[in-house]
Amino acid sequence: MKRVITYGTFDLLHYGHINLLRRAKELGDYLIVALSTDEFNWNEKRKKSYFGFEQRKAMLEAIKYVDEVIAEDNWEQKRTDIHTHNVDIFVIGDDWQGKFDFLEEEGCQVVYLTRTPEISTTQIKSDIKQK
Ligand code: CTP
Repeated sequence: MKRVITYGTFDLLHYGHINLLRRAKELGDYLIVALSTDEFNWNEKRKKSYFGFEQRKAMLEAIKYVDEVIAEDNWEQKRTDIHTHNVDIFVIGDDWQGKFDFLEEEGCQVVYLTRTPEISTTQIKSDIKQK
């Protein structure tokens, strides 16, 4: 039974997110999504998500590839999450290429998946604004 974890905001859920979640789940048997809280997004990234944490969480929980959603509220928790949740594989899009290789020290595999081209939450927001 391989346990996989991925991190993100997943605001305005789109097909790039679904592609990422599908491929993440295919790497193992159980997929955990660590979902950025509204406070973490604002305090650390100066980003305000359109949907609040509970709304984003409910949407992720409705996706068949997702088995569990936990909160991401700080940068340091990845190291401990690996152990608390018995994670075998850490997965994230390749916009983060190389950034989380240190997690291999915790005994988990680190995989960067190719991002789906031409779609992002930022892109959706700016496209809609221009209409
Ligand atoms: N992702 C992806 N392909 C896309 C967009 C996102 O594979 N076209 C992946 C990211 O690499 C990350 C996860 O989906 O592993 C969650 O990304 P997130 O930052 O929440 O989504 P973005 O659409 O990239 O949002 P933003 O524009 O705010 O950065």
